[in-house]
Amino acid sequence: MKRILIIGASRGIGHSLACEFVTRGWQVTGTIRGTAATPLHALRDAHPQAVEIERVDINFPDQVAALKSRLTGQAFDALLVNAGTSNANQGETIAETTTDEFIRVMVTNALSPMRVVEVLSDLLTPEGILAVMSSGQGSIAENTRGGREVYRGSKAALNQYMRSYAIREGETRPMLLIAPGWIRTELGGDDARYSLGESAPKLVDVILAQEGKPGLRYEDRDGKTVAW
Ligand SMILES: NC(=O)c1ccc[n+]([C@@H]2O[C@H](COP(=O)([O-])OP(=O)(O)OC[C@H]3O[C@@H](n4cnc5c(N)ncnc54)[C@H](OP(=O)(O)O)[C@@H]3O)[C@@H](O)[C@H]2O)c1
Repeated sequence: MKRILIIGASRGIGHSLACEFVTRGWQVTGTIRGTAATPLHALRDAHPQAVEIERVDINFPDQVAALKSRLTGQAFDALLVNAGTSNANQGETIAETTTDEFIRVMVTNALSPMRVVEVLSDLLTPEGILAVMSSGQGSIAENTRGGREVYRGSKAALNQYMRSYAIREGETRPMLLIAPGWIRTELGGDDARYSLGESAPKLVDVILAQEGKPGLRYEDRDGKTVAW
């Protein structure tokens, strides 16, 4: 049975991908950060043999280190760093945002995912897939409409850091930055174009298509390359 570790699987896209991986016969370890029941708990209740729940807030390095200690000795075929956030007022410009809000978004979307990558990628098998949830809004080349400046900047930073990481690591394993499309979740909002139900199978296909293909790619929900 193949195994995936999904960081940020309590709800939204991370939870939907956990469900899809279980449907495909994978063993899923998904993380939450609170103490309240989440949709991931319901998935575990329905599939107790296939789902394990771990706890981590990626903004606390000691919690990431503790998770690594708890999971050491286990080998995963894929790691998906999905956790992310947006600034509360998405209409504000970069200069209008408060310093605290800028720091919160940049730390959650760029710094913390990279710390997770650095610490937890050791848990992957040598050929294991390292996938990180970016966004089409992280593309500088495709930013022709502007808007969502704080969020865009955080995902562009994430992309840049992943490129540096991939070069430093020698691109020996498959690595993927995903632009999942605009999806109806708490972050995406009710007006988003795609449902979770139609998105999850496509996104899992894109992740699994990386198998056996070392190097870093930035791809959309159809597996098409996104311009940096
Ligand atoms: N929805 C879209 O249209 C869209 C488009 C492009 C990219 N994305 C990206 O896709 C990813 C998931 O987004 P979503 O739409 O599913 O958002 P969501 O419904 O708001 O879910 C966000 C997930 O990230 C977790 N999370 C947030 N901060 C965390 C932290 N500090 N530590 C650990 N987990 C944390 C949340 O956990 P809690 O339940 O504990 O809050 C939740 O599981 C994000 O990286 C987002 O930027 C989304």
